[in-house]
Amino acid sequence: MQNERSSYNSVSYPTYSYVETHPDRLAAMAILHGLSPAPVEACRVLEVGCNEGANLIPMAYSLPNSEFVGFDLADIPIERGQQRILELGLANIRLFAGDLMEIGAELGQFDYILAHGFYAWVPPPVRDRLLAMCGELLTPNGVAFVSYDTMPGGHFRKMTRQMMLFGVKHIENATERVTEGRGLLEMVLEARPEGDPYRQLFTRQVERMKQRSPQTVYHDELADEYDPVMFIDFAEHARKHGLQYLSEAELPPPNDPGGQPDFKAAMESAIGDDILKQEQMKDFARMRTFRETLLCRAECTVRRDFPAEQMRQLLVTSQTNSSPGGSPRAKVFTMPGGIKMETNHMGVIALLELLEAVWPHALGIEELEPHLAKAGFTLDGEGAALLMQLADARMIVFHAWRAPLAQGISARPRASAISRQEAAMRPYATTLMHATSSLGDPLVRSLLLLLDGTRDRNQLQQAMRAKYSDLAGEDLEKQIERGLGVFYQAALLEA
Ligand SMILES: C[S@@+](CC[C@H](N)C(=O)[O-])C[C@H]1O[C@@H](n2cnc3c(N)ncnc32)[C@H](O)[C@@H]1O
Repeated sequence: MQNERSSYNSVSYPTYSYVETHPDRLAAMAILHGLSPAPVEACRVLEVGCNEGANLIPMAYSLPNSEFVGFDLADIPIERGQQRILELGLANIRLFAGDLMEIGAELGQFDYILAHGFYAWVPPPVRDRLLAMCGELLTPNGVAFVSYDTMPGGHFRKMTRQMMLFGVKHIENATERVTEGRGLLEMVLEARPEGDPYRQLFTRQVERMKQRSPQTVYHDELADEYDPVMFIDFAEHARKHGLQYLSEAELPPPNDPGGQPDFKAAMESAIGDDILKQEQMKDFARMRTFRETLLCRAECTVRRDFPAEQMRQLLVTSQTNSSPGGSPRAKVFTMPGGIKMETNHMGVIALLELLEAVWPHALGIEELEPHLAKAGFTLDGEGAALLMQLADARMIVFHAWRAPLAQGISARPRASAISRQEAAMRPYATTLMHATSSLGDPLVRSLLLLLDGTRDRNQLQQAMRAKYSDLAGEDLEKQIERGLGVFYQAALLEA
């Protein structure tokens, strides 16, 4: 079997930007928990196992006064990333090929350390070195992001992986390994009657695999190493390296089984108020498969009561759309994913309408306060709890930084150079808020490529007509305006 270096060199791993790893989100979580993290616009960030830098390069682009370092064992993806950095002319990021086992203090201290998709896929000594490095290199107020697969949900992935590995033991070719491995699972699935619980478990795993690219399945399901862990063991591992559990990168999803009042009450009476044990118990209830955990130094004082004074340091966004509710004073707020909320709370209505009007821009909680007060929404303990409920319900997102967004659609619109570079390579791009925006429509993708800030509407029409000659002038004009609107809303147009 190939070693780790050559497997990521010979079969490229489809990599993305992960919004939940952005220092903006890490800092916001840290501030909510009472910490004073480094300002997002002037910080040092390290990514371990960064592959080709798909996550780190867009961060470096939108944060020119922060410094970024990434490394990976596989040198071919690193070279691809270095080429992208060169093309973009970024001076605040360095990617290099290296083994975590041989890297340390020479890199200096970091305010944010990221390791996405790494911990569960490397052997125990490398896993240990990762947390040791976080312990050594994190600044006193630093935050580390570590994602990993968890038990008990990991049992199912381990089970299907074991079967697949049995079936492909003698196959070297990457494509064949994936095809045969999937085929074996489908064969086992078909042996079970419809509605059978074992079949249902398999169906879930097989469906998940179908949605992923063969390259991802090759690395994630058929890797030499795969070791999901219990949360409590991960937290203990972190403690040994002078780190403590801060929070997850994301708030628990709405309707989280671990947050149900009856379960919470029973759990608290069974195990008391130990936060780590509680988190573990919640994972049992959730059958959790994956965590994105934030760690900070053991000496930090972590607050878990989300005080208003911490929130005043933050900004908020909301991508909601409002519409009339069922009663005269009520409003319905709908998020792009379909999450809906109906409310007649005047303060909440005022807040969400203000944020809807400025999206994709953020507003500071302090600057919102006087407007909210007029609608009877005071940011006392109760008001802070209400804001947390809105965040839990995914109606608002907290931030610690203002993304460098355009104020509107200008005469010569400019999409970020990073999104244009990505659009030239693939049908999705990273927004200035570090989310991934789909560019599935070829016309939209062509338009984005033209937005370098030099073309006005006429020049855009001419360039697009050369490519889409079958579209009538008026249609093309409308499509361009529609596309520009989509790019503005998606935070792709820059200041
Ligand atoms: C599953 S990929 C994840 C890539 C990326 N972080 C992501 O989430 O898309 C794991 C990466 O870790 C790298 N890696 C594995 N062992 C390593 C080590 N000892 N030192 C540095 N990188 C390593 C691999 O080469 C691979 O690129």
